[in-house]
Amino acid sequence: MQNSQGHGAQASRMHPWPVRISHWINAVAMTMMIGSGWGIYNDSIIINGLWFPHAVRIGSWAAESLLWHFAFMWVLAINGLFYLGYGFATGRFRRRLFPIRPRELIETVRETLRLHLAHEDLTTYNAVQKLLYIVVIVAGVMQVVTGLSIWKPVQFGWLTALFGGFQGARIAHFIGMTVIVGFVVVHVALAFLVPRTLVAMVTGGPRVAEPAE
Ligand code: HEM
Repeated sequence: MQNSQGHGAQASRMHPWPVRISHWINAVAMTMMIGSGWGIYNDSIIINGLWFPHAVRIGSWAAESLLWHFAFMWVLAINGLFYLGYGFATGRFRRRLFPIRPRELIETVRETLRLHLAHEDLTTYNAVQKLLYIVVIVAGVMQVVTGLSIWKPVQFGWLTALFGGFQGARIAHFIGMTVIVGFVVVHVALAFLVPRTLVAMVTGGPRVAEPAE
């Protein structure tokens, strides 16, 4: 039997080490992928008038950006597979990210708009956090899938066709990037507004009881 502080035989950290390591590797890999992706985008823009200035690009010209993109895609994909494997195998995703109750979701949005968002209990994610984490995890997976169909449109022709061809896959890849960048802006701002969460993502945070599987 365990209490809510997790003083039980199966107590573990709010963020076990595999989550912390993969989270921070992902943060570096995403930064590299986004910055180098912006360098590649400039070579053949999708939205008229939208291009990325030198200061935010990784790689001084498109070919160099592409090399960075190809190098870090391995880091992103292998690390992502590790994080997903760990989350599914241990049941952590099911425990931490589900269920999401619509009533809770509406209530959390209301509280946030009133700037009343309580964040005393670090050990559980609120409904909005759960939803946003699921959205960004799916967006990350989709980036790898759309990325593959742009990288190898011949070998993965069937995948590229699913997105309506090369340009469709490119647009889907761009939309995925936009979703991730939007998430990261809000996510990092919230992490610095509630620095205890940031410390917990480094140290592991409080111990939590893991229900017997
Ligand atoms: C420097 C950039 C980043 C900082 C400072 C940061 C900070 C944090 C913190 C503090 C938490 C724990 C939140 C809590 O306990 O309430 C967290 C969780 C999370 N972050 Fe980040 N993050 C960063 C980048 C990213 C990026 C780039 C992504 C994905 C694109 C990401 C995805 C996630 C996810 C999915 C979780 C939940 C992890 C889990 O419990 O499995 N983060 N982040």
